[in-house]
Amino acid sequence: MLDIDNIRRQFPIFSTTTKTPLVYLDNAATTQKPLVVLERLQRFYSYENANIHRGIYQLADDATRHFEKARSRVAQFINAKYPDEVVFCSGTTEAINMVAQGLRKYLSSDHQLVVTAMEHHANFVPWQTVCNQTGARLRVIAVKPDGTLDRDQLDAAIRQKPAVLALTHISNTLGTINPVHEIVALAKEHGVITVVDAAQSIAYDHLDVKDLDCDFLAFSGHKAFGPMGIGVLYGKEEQLARLEPYQQGGSMIIKVSEESTTFKPPPHGLEAGTPPVAEAVALGTALDFISGIGLSKIKVHNHSILLYAKEKLSSLQGVQQIGPENETSSIVSFLMKDIHPHDVATILGESGVAVRAGHHCAQPLMQALNIHGTVRASFTIYNNREDVDQLIDALKTVEKVML
Ligand SMILES: Cc1ncc(COP(=O)(O)O)c(C=O)c1O
Repeated sequence: MLDIDNIRRQFPIFSTTTKTPLVYLDNAATTQKPLVVLERLQRFYSYENANIHRGIYQLADDATRHFEKARSRVAQFINAKYPDEVVFCSGTTEAINMVAQGLRKYLSSDHQLVVTAMEHHANFVPWQTVCNQTGARLRVIAVKPDGTLDRDQLDAAIRQKPAVLALTHISNTLGTINPVHEIVALAKEHGVITVVDAAQSIAYDHLDVKDLDCDFLAFSGHKAFGPMGIGVLYGKEEQLARLEPYQQGGSMIIKVSEESTTFKPPPHGLEAGTPPVAEAVALGTALDFISGIGLSKIKVHNHSILLYAKEKLSSLQGVQQIGPENETSSIVSFLMKDIHPHDVATILGESGVAVRAGHHCAQPLMQALNIHGTVRASFTIYNNREDVDQLIDALKTVEKVML
């Protein structure tokens, strides 16, 4: 059992004294930051700040060392074979763009790329764009009315040996957990390059890229108690080496002449310009924070809050939950009869309950489910049953005000 009171005390945002205490249920959008992470950022900028990989003085050397240590920490956290399989970038969005554009030179109208209808736009639009650029075809796997993938369709598509399969581990909208191990294994059998969007799973479950055996995996630091502006592209050594650097500039070159440029090998060859050094270092601290609590405990806690929320929501007559009954993470999406999701979220917000409403950057999923949007509550380690009770009370107010 987690000591939630103790955990909450480590997050300054919950200690602010406003009239209505914050009930933060928008963790799928971004998590709050614990003091250790904030202090690490401040320490870097206060006492350790220098640019990396270029200084020849002690401060710059130390900054480089902290940055590279963070890379090793990430590699250890996801069980990568080598630290150099970890590329720092701004987030999941940049990581996926890096792969899509990095593979562009290999793609043509002979190729098919497979995504699913439940992807966040970050794992959909970059593939659509590279298809438009190269003539490759984009195959979108259907989502069933219960919010799970159409596995027959997906498996059949994999057997046709597409060039790439890009798939989310956990749906940011419905919380659906896709059986990525099984799906990646099938894709491997057919020689398909696999890209896993782990934005919603990095702080929910143990990720072991060796065991998962995917070619690429992407996540954002800010969804794992780390800073915004830092994210990770993991890639198998040989797969990263195939990527064309999608940005060029300083830091990533070996030699530049008027005629031509040679690039460094990954990861540095894919990290053009000055990276968010303090943020990378603080991401390492965020991962330490998660490990200190223990992902297994986090998962059990988050899931138990989810089940409590689902049960409470099902006791409200006008509420319809959207998404699978089981196999979900710590996200619940719902609709209130005859009330627009934005109106629900606005009234919840006035009661201090922060949720997300809308299409959740997943418009193809909305089209598949034939809805315009949902209200989404997402939970993590600092949420407790009282938070859920306040959500339910606020939803009763919504009904009173709107109906
Ligand atoms: C599943 C999923 N993929 C990708 C993203 C994009 O992440 P970022 O905006 O941090 O790049 C998100 C953010 O909500 C997400 O939930």
